[in-house]
Amino acid sequence: MKNIETYINTHKDRFLNELFELLRIPSISADSNYKPQLLQTAEHVAQALTNAGCENVQILPTKGNPVVYADKIINSNLPTILVYGHYDVQPADPIELWETPPFEPTLKKTEIHPDGAIFARGACDDKGQLFMHVKAIEFLIETHQLPCNVKFMIEGEEEVGSPSLAPFIKEHAELFKNDVILISDTGMISNTQPSITTGLRGLSYVEVEITGPNRDLHSGFYGGAVANPINILNQMIAKLHDENNHITIPGFYDNVYQLSSEERTEMAKAPFSQKEYNKALNIDEEWGEKSYTTLERSTIRPTLDVNGIWGGYIGQGAKTVLPSKAHAKISMRLVPGQDPDTITQLFTDYFISLAPKSVNVIVKPHHGGKAYRTPLDSTGYKAAYKAYAETFTNTPIPQPSGGSIPIVSLFSDVFKSHTILMGFGLNSDAIHSPNEHYGLFNFYKGIETIPYFYKHFTELYKEEHA
Ligand code: BES
Ligand code: MN
Ligand code: MN
Repeated sequence: MKNIETYINTHKDRFLNELFELLRIPSISADSNYKPQLLQTAEHVAQALTNAGCENVQILPTKGNPVVYADKIINSNLPTILVYGHYDVQPADPIELWETPPFEPTLKKTEIHPDGAIFARGACDDKGQLFMHVKAIEFLIETHQLPCNVKFMIEGEEEVGSPSLAPFIKEHAELFKNDVILISDTGMISNTQPSITTGLRGLSYVEVEITGPNRDLHSGFYGGAVANPINILNQMIAKLHDENNHITIPGFYDNVYQLSSEERTEMAKAPFSQKEYNKALNIDEEWGEKSYTTLERSTIRPTLDVNGIWGGYIGQGAKTVLPSKAHAKISMRLVPGQDPDTITQLFTDYFISLAPKSVNVIVKPHHGGKAYRTPLDSTGYKAAYKAYAETFTNTPIPQPSGGSIPIVSLFSDVFKSHTILMGFGLNSDAIHSPNEHYGLFNFYKGIETIPYFYKHFTELYKEEHA
């Protein structure tokens, strides 16, 4: 790539200021009060793509927040890269734990980011990462080095499970037709050891409600004689894992893809320190499914976690009450082989079976999605490997991630193309947490590496189609 480093150096301050403008708009998809800001963010992204030299820029309506489309089609014989990203962000709560305001991006140095990092909600997930693609395409168009066709799909509901995107992509399958999908919405091992995310876990997310008596009761008059839904809910949740921390739902592991011992040995080669992991989280000991390592537990094994639990009196002081209801939100991370709808059904049947007759149980499914794996022998993976090899001093390591981007498995069904996850975030970037940040090194390195993916993907594609 001619002049990519010079181009970044010349424009680095402008790139940063433009990203800051995007980060200042609170595009929180979970909260309907922010609808206007979501639309404003979509318009902002569309304008940025127009400024970068893209064509046919459109804000396409969906049942929910709109999808931004843009393209640059130079020759129908050349391959087409589809870039996906999301302009929505997680809520900023708990707001009081932010050291600087979440929607006023601020530069600060950290131990891991000695050159500085951008602190803001969405800095890493995903505005900072999607914006690298906008700047990469600007460079390719501006310097007349765009080697292939490109399309953009930037959505606004990823953080709430992409509910409108599934029907949307089926309707617009032709418009978004592509040869490979490129996403920067994941992470890598460290700034000196790049990695390419080769897997995402699936998800089944449910909410449960336990009802005991028809009203809150005096715990002195009734306590001990009427089932307390909070006590019962806790007993039921405790039964979901056994003493080896296996999940007890019958059939849960039935179709789980089991890694071969070669694959597990390969995985174990990735640099990882349990001691540093524990230290970073301030825990004395790790926890998890027996016979698996921390890296395996958090990427290739399915899990079940309570995300929130509530009921009864939580105000100041003490109130003696036996509550009528108790609630919990529960997520299950899935791996290849597991179908989210089947898992939701298995959970529902088992959870209801755990309840004594003294309470009523309602299980409400939220969103879900299947796991995804990128084949290491795909053209896209090979091109990504070559791209990192050009811009980093170390070659990249393939590594599955524990996170989820639920729409990705549907992409492979609808478009029959592979998804390449070139994420530049770090685990320590605190995505979804207070003080989310994104390293300046990572931001600029992403802009530098992406054009090489275009180059190598096009070259490999031409060789294969010669
Ligand atoms: N970008 C993340 C997913 C991610 C981050 C994957 C880092 C791998 C490494 C995405 O925005 C996200 O937060 N996904 C959610 C699921 C969604 C349905 C809310 C998740 O993984 O919890
Ligand atoms: Mn994301
Ligand atoms: Mn996220």
